[in-house]
Amino acid sequence: MTRFRTLDDLDVARKRVLLRADLNVPVKDGEVSDATRIERLAPTIEALLAREARVVVMSHFGRPKGPDPKQSLRPLVEPLSRAIGGRKVSFAADCIGPEAKRVVAALRPGEVALLENLRFHKEEEANDPGFARALAELGDVYVDDAFSAAHRAHASIEALAHLLPAAAGKLMQAELDALGRALESPEHPVIGLIGGSKISTKIDLLKFIITKVDRLAIGGAMANTFLYAQGKPVGRSLCENDLADTARDILKAAEARGCTMILPEDAVTAEKLEPGVMTRTVGVNAVPTNAMILDVGPQTVASLAAALGECRTLIWNGPIGAFETPPFDRATIAVARKVAELTRAGRLTSVAGGGDTVAALAAAGVTDDLTYVSTAGGAFLEWLEGKELPGVAALGVT
Ligand code: 3PG
Repeated sequence: MTRFRTLDDLDVARKRVLLRADLNVPVKDGEVSDATRIERLAPTIEALLAREARVVVMSHFGRPKGPDPKQSLRPLVEPLSRAIGGRKVSFAADCIGPEAKRVVAALRPGEVALLENLRFHKEEEANDPGFARALAELGDVYVDDAFSAAHRAHASIEALAHLLPAAAGKLMQAELDALGRALESPEHPVIGLIGGSKISTKIDLLKFIITKVDRLAIGGAMANTFLYAQGKPVGRSLCENDLADTARDILKAAEARGCTMILPEDAVTAEKLEPGVMTRTVGVNAVPTNAMILDVGPQTVASLAAALGECRTLIWNGPIGAFETPPFDRATIAVARKVAELTRAGRLTSVAGGGDTVAALAAAGVTDDLTYVSTAGGAFLEWLEGKELPGVAALGVT
């Protein structure tokens, strides 16, 4: 695992600290609908302010193609200020150039500024050295607290980290510690629980994770492709028929590795995916031709609960059923509650990540009960694929 510098290794007193955050938060009707990423960033800002740093926060937001007022970070000033106890946050309407320099120059020790969306400049995503140098002019040291964007080799994440003394912020450190431990030095047996709709998006992940876990449970529509590959009827279910060979290869590779695969034994089916629709629970050998598999049934939930009870570490990504449409949220919620119960009892170390998974944990009301819930979506997936993340590599000291 990469060793990295932390805030403790940096002298920040009275210095301008360029803090790469991930303020790419969900916004609905102009309001932040989930402030988790802002709240998890706050301890880093607080720690820097306590050491009399001048904190310059920078982030991307959305995927703008050039400047776009609808994707401005200005509406994030208030929520950011709230998260750090109501301290004033000044705003620079550009992230480089005279406007950014003016706002940063006005900062006194213990004050915070937020720069406009980095992606208003196309050079950010191009990892452009000149753009990184323009950002570097605004700081004396660099702190990266954006693990959830660490899979992007962008200028504020990659090039910039080489231009100034650099370190991981507290959130980055917590993510790397928790995730690193779960994959590199976990307590065995380890169970992976991977859901979601498509194998095609998770082939690399599946191939890598079977080398790390003792058991691998597959949920979501992705499981349909495995069932189909085993010759089971899947009716009109979402299924990637053309990936049957890939699914069979993964099953074979898992067996060769001594990783036990756990596939659904029963399924909750319906003729359409609609809230409150009539359902039929059947064994996986008896899925009707006109029906879709939309969740796993109680027998599978019981098997998953039993497997979790026998394991010491869980790595979870992806819901088990079509959880956004009740009643197909039942298995995901039941399993989330079992994970929470085992974690609370000290019998399981549970690590979860990915947007849908985090939403499912919140729906089950158990987010705070897991050992660690990552703020990352895409970066969590790439980490689960065993890839080196550019934002982590750039901070590495070995
Ligand atoms: C995320 O929300 O996963 C990160 O902020 C990365 O965003 P991106 O996929 O637009 O690069």
